[in-house]
Amino acid sequence: MAFPETRLRRLRKTGALRSLVRETSLSPADLISPMFVVAGGQGRAPIASMPGVDHLSIDAAVEEAGAAAALEVPGVMLFGLPAEKDAVGSEAWDDEGVVQLATRAIKAAHPDLLVITDLCLCEYTSHGHCGVLRADGAVDNDETLELLGRIAVSHARAGADALAPSDMMDGRVGHLRAALDEAGESDMPIIAHSAKYASAFYGPFRDAADCAPQEGDRRGYQLDPANAAEAVREAELDVDEGADVLMVKPALPYLDVIRRVKERTGLPVAAYQVSGEYAMIKAAAAAGVLDERAAVLEALTGIRRAGADVVITYYAKDVAQWLQT
Ligand code: PBG
Repeated sequence: MAFPETRLRRLRKTGALRSLVRETSLSPADLISPMFVVAGGQGRAPIASMPGVDHLSIDAAVEEAGAAAALEVPGVMLFGLPAEKDAVGSEAWDDEGVVQLATRAIKAAHPDLLVITDLCLCEYTSHGHCGVLRADGAVDNDETLELLGRIAVSHARAGADALAPSDMMDGRVGHLRAALDEAGESDMPIIAHSAKYASAFYGPFRDAADCAPQEGDRRGYQLDPANAAEAVREAELDVDEGADVLMVKPALPYLDVIRRVKERTGLPVAAYQVSGEYAMIKAAAAAGVLDERAAVLEALTGIRRAGADVVITYYAKDVAQWLQT
């Protein structure tokens, strides 16, 4: 039946009607708040490229985690800035490393809050790549796997609730699963960055985490932004290797990928609204050309509508606050 029998505006007439037929929900329970923890840091220090996000000492991270928990954000994702970097990123698997210490401290203070750790070498290597470099400058996949396995076991022993490998090495979910099994950590969920694109939108994060590659770029291991079938292939391989949640990153330019991965696998899908997506809205709001709150809620609702069950966003605490008022 068409117009005039059908008038879609009938259900748009009042807020109550719109709410009754709303297809997509957004709640603090869907969100994860990323945090940057600095080894030996004191208190908080603002991150210039990401207004509103701070570098945190361990104490400040515990406080920040408590603030997220108080707003009913279910979890945080930890990124670590080590005291020292070296060619293989050895601080990453140090049981007294910054992420390990922060994980223990946060879990002790807020046992019900989920602590998800980012698992990657780029913040820890002097060259800024996500793995060990071969003589020709390429990242050595299989040698990197061995190091990622050590990080996974160390994070698990520190009490992490889930691990989120973001390196994009081939075979890493299977390798991590085997390393965790061997360490008696078979119950550890893996949130695999299955479709992590070689994206310009990571720019602000690379300042925040001090992990821009000294030479070259990450296109030799991260996905080509032009490819979606390949993302589905990555996701399917991760499922076969034992991933529990699949992640797509960035989020807004890749809504079709979120949808395809969700439909093809049926697994829980996480989407990461990355630093550049955050900084764009912040800059537009600061310039007075966007309503920040409305733009953020719309972007996050769009990401959920595309099929994301979980959204990782630097706006998590703000959104939780906005949704409560
Ligand atoms: C590194 C990593 C990156 C991000 C998360 N983990 C950057 C990169 O791959 O260069 C980006 C997150 C963001 O931009 O918010 N493994």
